[in-house]
Amino acid sequence: MALAASSRLRGRIAGGPRRQASRASTCRVVCKAHKVAILPGDGIGPEIMDQALRVLTTAGKAEGAEFEFTRALVGGAAIDATGNPLPKETLDICKASDSVLLAAIGGYKWDTLPAEQRPERGLLGLRAGLNAFANLRPAIVPPQLADSSPLKREIVEGVDILIVRELVGGIYFGQPRGFGTNDKGERIGFNTDVYSEPEVERIARVAFEAAQKRQKRLCSVEKSNVLEVSQLWKEVVIRVAKDYPDVELSHMYIDNAAMQLLRNPKFFDVVVTGNIFGDILSDEASMLAGSLGMLPSASISGDGPGIFEPVHGSAPDIAGQDIANPLAMVLSAAMMCRYDLKLPKVADRLETAVNSALDQGWRTKDLWKEGTNLVKCSEMGDILVKLVA
Ligand code: IPM
Ligand code: MG
Repeated sequence: MALAASSRLRGRIAGGPRRQASRASTCRVVCKAHKVAILPGDGIGPEIMDQALRVLTTAGKAEGAEFEFTRALVGGAAIDATGNPLPKETLDICKASDSVLLAAIGGYKWDTLPAEQRPERGLLGLRAGLNAFANLRPAIVPPQLADSSPLKREIVEGVDILIVRELVGGIYFGQPRGFGTNDKGERIGFNTDVYSEPEVERIARVAFEAAQKRQKRLCSVEKSNVLEVSQLWKEVVIRVAKDYPDVELSHMYIDNAAMQLLRNPKFFDVVVTGNIFGDILSDEASMLAGSLGMLPSASISGDGPGIFEPVHGSAPDIAGQDIANPLAMVLSAAMMCRYDLKLPKVADRLETAVNSALDQGWRTKDLWKEGTNLVKCSEMGDILVKLVA
């Protein structure tokens, strides 16, 4: 069962950037280390990153793969050290790496800063700076966790969804944005939700290709009953669908999709959606597996290093207590090995170890219930290190 769950994660998602393939094969000949930029960020970020790096290094050693880690600052940690949530040095280190592994950013301490100086801007700047436009967020419910969800077992068991979220456009980046005054002299805040045809087309192609490798069902989520930006989105997706006749395409309004994700999540195979709808749906989907601490993500660009990060945030309320769940971080490292570094065997080791740890009943606090064994973040790391060796 455990292996079935991990093999579902494997190979069903669209392949990573093509350019990586030739570099990876050269690497096999000269055995050069894979250069990974490490961005631990804030809150629980450094704790879960420490565990993920131990596990990744051990799994790599077992497969003859070496890593060269370069640490860099982002988010609140970067604000404290440099005054900037994304120092130029950090972006340069990331651009010069094969891949970027990021934990989480943000915290109460920086919540009152003006929007453009907040830790989140560092993350958004990094995504934009690396043109990481395709955010793949798998929401898989391992059979061992079907009872951890607030939803009934029969609803969540067997769920295997891939959310493909557009990551560098839409309302997160649209201009104009800002604050102003309306005709009545009242203060206003405004943003712009905008997509161009090429932006929709490129994310739609990633989603169709992913669907081709899975159950061949794609659901495009938007709000075309109200928004022009969504009408254009839907038109482009329908046009692109002609190139993928083997994929069954459906369309859903975001409000209905949010409901169906709870009512009948097994309806979904691949979901493609814009930046803000994808943000919301992926947090919702995490509850199918019972904890936000289980969901990894990959943000890929097609021609540069990808960013691999858990879907969850920096959880400042539990930071420094060694109780965070490091599994989404470890699974993000696995996605990095599969997509960017072309190390499928290392990825297999990491995913299989996570499954085995769950099979053996080890749970961090977020997932613990009667009959399972409570472990700390670092203890989960110890368990995984043994399992991947
Ligand atoms: C996510 C996060 C980010 C987002 C925040 C931290 C900027 O919620 O990756 O889902 O909104 O994209
Ligand atoms: Mg989010």
